[in-house]
Amino acid sequence: MKGVTVVDHPLVQHKLTLMRKKDTSTKSFRQLLKEIGGLICYEVTRDLPLETVEIETPLMLMQAPALAGKKLVFAPILRSGMGMLDGMLELVPAARVAHVGLYRDPQTLACVEYYFKAPEGLAERTVIVVDPMLATGNTAIAAVDRLREAGAKQIRIACLLCAPEGLSNFLGHHPDVKVWTAAIDERLNDHGYILPGLGDAGDRMYGTR
Ligand code: URA
Repeated sequence: MKGVTVVDHPLVQHKLTLMRKKDTSTKSFRQLLKEIGGLICYEVTRDLPLETVEIETPLMLMQAPALAGKKLVFAPILRSGMGMLDGMLELVPAARVAHVGLYRDPQTLACVEYYFKAPEGLAERTVIVVDPMLATGNTAIAAVDRLREAGAKQIRIACLLCAPEGLSNFLGHHPDVKVWTAAIDERLNDHGYILPGLGDAGDRMYGTR
């Protein structure tokens, strides 16, 4: 699918399989989501622009590559986006964080915003939306709409699992936003859950029901 990168690295695939198992503990699930967050972040940031800066090694001056431009923004969608965030921040500790609070109305599956707080200068920063479960795609669409309204221009999205229907819906609304995911599953069920999936990511992270 154009604009979508499936991160097929063996470590990502192995960790995802562990997360899918219904008997994986809350503690392991949270740890694995954090680890996959870091690995997916590595791929999402692979083509970030570099600039040359002059530095001094213990032996001599040199021209060395460094990330160009303003600090990145990670924009986790609450709650489950928080599960990937720490792994991403371990790789990019200076990144800024925009919290996007959206939930799906269980009846209509429509998105309702309950919290939004973003750093300044979104227009000049690359913003990586963190949405582990891209199911109907409606939450990701609403998050990107909201970030655009707040000024963001360069937006990417880091997922764990996507449903094909949700991806088509998302790319139909935001064809210019590239998506990274560990897998594209078979389909959605009638309640908007991804099949075979891994269940409710927020509940599995926090031990709620
Ligand atoms: N959100 C989840 O946590 N799991 C799904 O399968 C779909 C949406």
